[in-house]
Amino acid sequence: MLYNEPSPLETRVLTRRFGLPNSASLDTYLATEGYQGFLKAAGMKPEEIIEEVKISNLRGRGGAGFPAGMKWSFVPRTSPKPKYIVVNADESEPGTCKDRVLIENDPHQLIEGVLIAGLAVGAHAGYIYVRGEYRYLIEIMDQAIAEAYANGWLGKNIRGTGFDFDLYTHTGAGAYECGEESALLESLEGKRGIPRIRPPFPAVVGAFQCPTVLNNVETFCAAPAILRDGGAAFAALGVPRAGGTKMICLTGHVNKPGVYELRMGFPVKQMIEEVGGGIRNGRKLKAFIPGGSSCPVLTAEECEGLTMDYDAMAARKTMLGSGGVIVMDEDTCMVKAAMRIMRFYAHESCGWCIPCREGTTWLRKILVRFHESGGTRGDIDLVGDIARNMLGRTFCPLGDAAAMPTISIVEKFRSEFEEHLSGRPCPYESASHMVTV
Ligand SMILES: Cc1cc2nc3c(=O)[nH]c(=O)nc-3n(C[C@H](O)[C@H](O)[C@H](O)COP(=O)(O)O)c2cc1C
Repeated sequence: MLYNEPSPLETRVLTRRFGLPNSASLDTYLATEGYQGFLKAAGMKPEEIIEEVKISNLRGRGGAGFPAGMKWSFVPRTSPKPKYIVVNADESEPGTCKDRVLIENDPHQLIEGVLIAGLAVGAHAGYIYVRGEYRYLIEIMDQAIAEAYANGWLGKNIRGTGFDFDLYTHTGAGAYECGEESALLESLEGKRGIPRIRPPFPAVVGAFQCPTVLNNVETFCAAPAILRDGGAAFAALGVPRAGGTKMICLTGHVNKPGVYELRMGFPVKQMIEEVGGGIRNGRKLKAFIPGGSSCPVLTAEECEGLTMDYDAMAARKTMLGSGGVIVMDEDTCMVKAAMRIMRFYAHESCGWCIPCREGTTWLRKILVRFHESGGTRGDIDLVGDIARNMLGRTFCPLGDAAAMPTISIVEKFRSEFEEHLSGRPCPYESASHMVTV
């Protein structure tokens, strides 16, 4: 199912089958070069597959942007232990909704990506960890897996290649923390979803204490095109240090919200104006979150000349993250935005690390009070201080994810906090629409 009209400005590599009749079926997949990347990879040496992924400049699409080929190369192939492939389909970062459409419209592309990773690292089993709220996707995925088994694309001696691979779905229970890779592995093993101490990283000690490649859905979905058409062709679609396209979830106050596949390095202004059809009701841009609610917020001025890629975002001290763009117009109350974001993190903190558990709860209370006009001038600095004291002090980056947008909002929109002082009601509350994060 498509949730929005495609844009002519898209570069459709991962979404090339979207909109075709029965796009999720094996027949459609095979009729459109499906499993060609896998068959090519099956004739290559593992190190050649990894080299092709390195050439493609594919960086992990789950948020951190770590180079996928390098991650795959960390798996110790000579280890006598079994190796596993784990797909992160938890997709719980607010603003992100791309893995959902990839699975819904083209589940065989994900299976093929997993098989390619399996060949590259010598794994013979994989798990797709799907967020609890995506229950209907499990049915789609399970159906595709059954179809692949029935037609020899999974199981023993896949299509005569001599390669065996079994694939399973596993459902989460709706916890944001279980999207964090080490907590996901704990959850997959049937334990409470809390983070592990690293190192060792999952490539060496992952699922069931065995070497594991864990990537985001979109990362695996890029592998078939990379093997089929070559890493260089994929790299050429992007920018020098980040190849290919990026699934962008364009949400917030744009006229045409949706999931769009844009080449890496696409200009932010063009994305909002032409892909997203501009800001609703002819309003102006106030704030921009490039990659999900955990990213530092940019002002409209900071979006000038900005492109959607990892390095460009890093230069503006924010992140491309998962591509969950949230556009906020001039009627948005930034105190309320900070409050909404913190409500989410306080609810989703797993409670394992004290700075995160206590910090998010404390910040939520202050921000709620502030938005209800009960804040004091000292609270403005207190919010920033608490958030800065959470940074880097937790086993997983959930604490950072809560702190970073908060610090940026306090620093860049301090005047809005001041407007709420002295019992004054929120000046934006009567605006026709509020940010929905
Ligand atoms: C709190 C938290 C939640 C996360 N949620 C997700 C998620 O839902 N999906 C995802 O792919 N990565 C998520 N990540 C990032 C993963 O830990 C990991 O970096 C990623 O799955 C690796 O895949 P990639 O290299 O393909 O990006 C999350 C990280 C944190 C700290």
